[in-house]
Amino acid sequence: MRVLFASSEIYPFAKTGGLADVCDALPTAMKKEVDISRVMPLYGFMKSEDFKFYDRFMISFGMVEYDIEVFEETERGVGTYFIKAPFLSDTQNLYGDENGDYRDNDLRFTLFSRAIVELGIRLEIDVFHINDWHTALVALFVREFNLNIKTIFTIHNLAYQGVFDRSSLSKFSILDKYFTMDALEFHGNINFMKAGIAYSDSITTVSPSYAKEILTEEFGCGLDGFLRHHQDKLSGILNGINETIFNPSTDKALAYTYDKETLENKHKNKVAFIKSSSLKDPRVPLFVMITRLVEQKGIDLLLESMDELLKKRLNLFIIGDGDSTVCEKLQNLSTKHKNFEFFDGYDEILSHQTYASADFLLMPSSFEPCGLNQFIAMKYGAIAVVHAVGGLKDSVHEEEICGRGIIYEKQSEDELLLAVDRALKLKKNSKKYKSMVRFNMECDFSFKSAVTHYIKLYNQ
Ligand code: GLC
Repeated sequence: MRVLFASSEIYPFAKTGGLADVCDALPTAMKKEVDISRVMPLYGFMKSEDFKFYDRFMISFGMVEYDIEVFEETERGVGTYFIKAPFLSDTQNLYGDENGDYRDNDLRFTLFSRAIVELGIRLEIDVFHINDWHTALVALFVREFNLNIKTIFTIHNLAYQGVFDRSSLSKFSILDKYFTMDALEFHGNINFMKAGIAYSDSITTVSPSYAKEILTEEFGCGLDGFLRHHQDKLSGILNGINETIFNPSTDKALAYTYDKETLENKHKNKVAFIKSSSLKDPRVPLFVMITRLVEQKGIDLLLESMDELLKKRLNLFIIGDGDSTVCEKLQNLSTKHKNFEFFDGYDEILSHQTYASADFLLMPSSFEPCGLNQFIAMKYGAIAVVHAVGGLKDSVHEEEICGRGIIYEKQSEDELLLAVDRALKLKKNSKKYKSMVRFNMECDFSFKSAVTHYIKLYNQ
């Protein structure tokens, strides 16, 4: 069986979020079980000379022909193909710039999806595993061309759906027959994600709880009814992390590597970290957040709670990028409070050092399809304090099972602050805190069990 795994981002080639990490770690974990390769765009910031030329073909949408080149990389364990196409490959970012989303994202990702299908035919694959709206049209093309290839569609985040004006359809010569409620039509526009939901043979999402939540109005982002209609083919498979990359005993980003027997080295990382920051006292519990600054991550609640939160005896360090007004607010708060520092942007090495220095990771997400930070934090010996939602609910527990942490049920300032109080109380009980930390560091947060589920789906 041959599988082609398609995504708009794969770490380390291009990344804006957890999607890229999963599209690296999951196929890598699956390669022993199945013949799998990956495909992603060749963006403008990537150089085709860094890869090998593989193939070239034309795609025609009506009267317009597009020249597609495919490059390949084979040195990372799992082979990756890169699609170079007009518009798709002209941009310096993945999806947009300071002016918002690129206006031709409809064409860019339709070309990408159509090229994936052509590549899949040439590679004689049996299964397309597509991810999020950028690749969702693959399922439609497979249906339209009557191909003998199965499609699995994984939803990493239902909040991003790829909604465009109806007129897009004619640009890609996608027939008007698809402009109906049970196909792409969405409040008078077209919605790419609906193609993945309607035409794939199987839909998965990245945690069992999120699979249930998206069937409700509260979390369904306007697609709950449509998803309920296709519920029979929907399941939730919990993500994991690549435990080779995220391993504090071998992590090259750390000044002091450590494992559960050498936690004193974790403390040395913390002391060095605090020293190099504007924060003071390393004896005070260090809470961290590493996050995109978007509504999903509970930023509004956090901003509301900040003044109260920072009255407590703790240090808080946030790494975040996104919304510039949120960045500004965080900058202002960091001038006002000595126990808070904000790093504007994203830095892979700094993020590893942050996990290694942290006592607690804060994840007050309002919704969370899975979340990966909690797994990394637990591997690095930090306790996660999370809102009981989506994948956070499935991976952080107050009981003595893998993923021990602190969870709060209701998304409110009071509950968040109470959860932080519980964390501070736990930290005072050093014996209990350390035993939780050690317990988590032993846990398997890899993709091992997810692989079994995905392989089963492929076989079906
Ligand atoms: C998205 C989701 C996140 C999930 C990740 C990988 O970034 O927001 O919850 O962990 O995709 O599936």
